[in-house]
Amino acid sequence: MNKAFYLETFGCQMNVVDSERIVDLLEGIGYHQVNSAERADLVLLNTCSVRDRAERKVYGHLGRFKPIKDRRPDLIIGVGGCVAQQEGEKMLEKVPYLDLVFGTHNVHRLPDLVEQVEAKRGRGSATEFLDRETRLNLFPQRSVRDNVTRFVTVMQGCDNFCSYCIVPHVRGREVSRPSSDILTEIENLVVQGVREVTLLGQNVNSYGIKEDEIDFPALLRRVNAIDGLERLRFTTSHPKDLSAELIDCFGQLEKLCKHIHLPVQSGSDRILEMMNRGYTAAEYLDKVERLKQVCPDIRLTTDIIVGFPGETEEDFQATLALVAQVRFADAFTFLYSPRTGTAAAEIADRQSAEEKQARFERLVELQNRLSEEAWQNDLGETLPVLVEGESRQGEGQLFGRTTWNRIVNFSGSKELIGRTIPVKIVKVFRNSNLGKLITDAA
Ligand code: SAH
Ligand code: SF4
Ligand code: F3S
Repeated sequence: MNKAFYLETFGCQMNVVDSERIVDLLEGIGYHQVNSAERADLVLLNTCSVRDRAERKVYGHLGRFKPIKDRRPDLIIGVGGCVAQQEGEKMLEKVPYLDLVFGTHNVHRLPDLVEQVEAKRGRGSATEFLDRETRLNLFPQRSVRDNVTRFVTVMQGCDNFCSYCIVPHVRGREVSRPSSDILTEIENLVVQGVREVTLLGQNVNSYGIKEDEIDFPALLRRVNAIDGLERLRFTTSHPKDLSAELIDCFGQLEKLCKHIHLPVQSGSDRILEMMNRGYTAAEYLDKVERLKQVCPDIRLTTDIIVGFPGETEEDFQATLALVAQVRFADAFTFLYSPRTGTAAAEIADRQSAEEKQARFERLVELQNRLSEEAWQNDLGETLPVLVEGESRQGEGQLFGRTTWNRIVNFSGSKELIGRTIPVKIVKVFRNSNLGKLITDAA
């Protein structure tokens, strides 16, 4: 008993949820979590391979653990997540001091692997993909620890095969969880004090399509009807599957927050086609227009890739024009990164790194201006904030979010955690707002 583990998580919310499961599983075999590798008996990286940089980080981080293992040969080092899934057992050859590798479908095998290494029965790996039935039984169930907000996985995997993207290769095919399980999980969470859930999947809009299940708008309606739940969000949406019915939910469901993350990737039809995205810029803009009609104060955020192979100045101009027209509240902008095994990695690319970088900077500059304008709208407003917990800013400081998913820090007493209260926005920063409690709420 009383062994310590250290866990670092990279990548998207899928990995965050898997890491919560990892914590539960390791606690089940007598480990407790610590926040430094130096003090741990077991160190784990939950990895991301969406871009080259993310992947290289893994090897860099593993290198940091080597001197610790040189001093303490009993230290167990493991890698999970998307890089583990992609590289498989090969990682054990590449990294001689690595003890175990577990893939995206094999989080549940972690305790066995750890015990195998502890018992000196050799290094271990588990990275095979599992069939549908087995996966359905393995949807992450995690313990609740004083959370006000929670992610609830509704589907896993991706069938879209956007030409640049590794995710379908490392997460496998789409499977949707039975709606009855999802609703029961959320009802239980609410009983335990959770006030907001974010329904999670790579492509939640196609929830239930392959299964004999209700569709995503119907699922949203049922979640919206759960007593005691205050807020509902979902991520990520694919524009091609954003139906008229789903758009209408933003005008109808009072718990659904007024924010949607809707990755556009490019504003050029030619590039969108090469990306295999399944929509045109005009179709995207049309859906945005309809969202704004049913919910005038909705805010959108997006993902954009710059420097896709063959992108011309004209293509890039089309992206800038779309960004200016939609006026996203925020955008995650990425330089295209070729991923081995994806279709786009085969397309000849003549653009220089300097050209790509220059375009990237032009886009960032435009988006920063638009973001700043969107956030300045909040200044002086009194907004409902769901208080999530104590902020890292220090004693007596709390944080919560507005409906637009913007963090607000303010001072107040801990009793407010879990409540939705009016907070006046007094200052606006790059990543958060500073607020002041409107006193009659306390
Ligand atoms: N399932 C989500 C996205 C997952 S990956 C969706 O479809 O919206 C998150 C973002 O990473 C993508 O939206 C895309 O903008 C970016 N991305 C994915 N592969 C990439 C690559 N090879 N190079 C650069 N950016 C990439
Ligand atoms: Fe990747 Fe496209 Fe699937 Fe998103 S929808 S995970 S970008 S393949
Ligand atoms: Fe990265 Fe895997 Fe998510 S590749 S973005 S952690 S699904």
